[in-house]
Amino acid sequence: MDQNQKKEAVANAALKFVKPDTIVGVGTGSTVNYFIDGLAAMKNEINGAVSSSKASTQRLKDHGIHVYELNEVDELDIYIDGADEVTEHKHMIKGGGAALTQEKIVAAVARQFICIVDDTKRVPLLGKFPLPVEVIPMGRSYVARELVRLGGDPVYRQGVVTDNSNVILDVHNLDILDPRELEAKINNIAGVVTNGLFARRGADIVLCADENEVRQFG
Ligand code: A5P
Repeated sequence: MDQNQKKEAVANAALKFVKPDTIVGVGTGSTVNYFIDGLAAMKNEINGAVSSSKASTQRLKDHGIHVYELNEVDELDIYIDGADEVTEHKHMIKGGGAALTQEKIVAAVARQFICIVDDTKRVPLLGKFPLPVEVIPMGRSYVARELVRLGGDPVYRQGVVTDNSNVILDVHNLDILDPRELEAKINNIAGVVTNGLFARRGADIVLCADENEVRQFG
């Protein structure tokens, strides 16, 4: 299987977690796109979806799946999303697609976070993938200096504006030995909206596709 086939396989495996008559939390990215396409085949069995980005909202609507605002919904049974890196502790780095803030909010509401990845995303330690940080534009330089003080090398993601009209700093060369602590520390910098560490609310289940099969962790 090539990487796209793995993404499709793991997305299809996640469809089995979707319960009838529920609203499904939907993440963002190329792996989730396969999930959305698969969900279309069961759109009459579900009540709809809550989306984490403009891109996923558009794809869901194109398939005729009703998209609720998160504020209209009290609870979500599941949230399905990809990741850029995931550890055996089910901590993740996310935000490669710049959708991290809304992803974190929808994930916070969901009872169960199911992370769908291919085996290139499983790592022993987070941080090889640069950590995305969403920043209020006027705070960009200050936040960058603070991130340097934390030992990272922030790089402004040129030309990218998030769905919340903010900018992204990608932080290279961080030693992420304690993801929960670093997640809180970075979120405490004035001007940071959120960062792409998903450790305090990690995944509950990781589905991972390798050459031969989809394996479930958790
Ligand atoms: C979007 O901002 C990200 O958090 C994605 O979930 C992550 O980048 C994984 O995307 P792919 O499935 O495209 O690799």
